[in-house]
Amino acid sequence: MNEEFSDDEKAGFYKAIYSRRDVRSHFTTAPIDDKVLTKILNAAHHAPSVGFSQPWNFILIKSQKTKNKIKESFDIEHARASEKIDGSKKSEYLALKLEGIIESPVNICVTYDPTKFGPFVIGRTSIPETGIYSVCCAIQNMWLSARAEGIGLGWVSILSNEVLKKQLGLPEHIIPIAYVCLGHVTNFETKPDLERAKWLPRLGLDEVVYYEKWQQKDVSDWNVIQQYIKSNLDYA
Ligand SMILES: Cc1cc2nc3c(=O)[nH]c(=O)nc-3n(C[C@H](O)[C@H](O)[C@H](O)COP(=O)(O)O)c2cc1C
Repeated sequence: MNEEFSDDEKAGFYKAIYSRRDVRSHFTTAPIDDKVLTKILNAAHHAPSVGFSQPWNFILIKSQKTKNKIKESFDIEHARASEKIDGSKKSEYLALKLEGIIESPVNICVTYDPTKFGPFVIGRTSIPETGIYSVCCAIQNMWLSARAEGIGLGWVSILSNEVLKKQLGLPEHIIPIAYVCLGHVTNFETKPDLERAKWLPRLGLDEVVYYEKWQQKDVSDWNVIQQYIKSNLDYA
């Protein structure tokens, strides 16, 4: 295989990254082709993982009964979260659509199994969280692959893990990491829903990059990249 990406391949790669969205409100009822869903799952399964432990499992869900139970959990947790917000922000929060559990044809629970290939896993001895980080890498692969296939994906974390464990029959040691909703969409928004709703802005790249030390901004060794970053390149 040619190791270089052609310009078209690079463009496709960046298109997936910049046009990926968290989808909650644009799902259609069109079913996802099983071959496409398999490709998305296989992309997730090819993520990096600490010590090649591949600590993920993917539970595919289309049972209406299960979805209803998970949605009940969302409603409870959503109401609980809203109690933590004061004033006008609370009504803004309540107006946000933060899940598409019922509308999306397929839900997937991505889980973490700390015992897989264990107890000794190369690279996980000092930082045990690397196991969970690996599962997050798989989720991001899934998200990007879904986008490339024209499938929307929304991550729902406003849920009780206890309810997930019970409804999905997870053994005690298996940890739910993500509950995601997938389906065809009417459109992919160009900006995140939370940005469009003016909940939060996207930070500038220059606000999140430091040089050599925490919060260090002006370092002459990094002059050229500092200029690029500040010039607001049209990265997309
Ligand atoms: C760990 C994680 C949990 C999230 N949980 C939720 C959620 O419960 N509900 C929701 O609507 N979006 C959720 N999101 C999506 C984020 O709100 C979204 O990624 C962010 O606003 C940026 O938008 P974008 O993904 O369209 O770029 C979650 C994202 C991540 C990475």
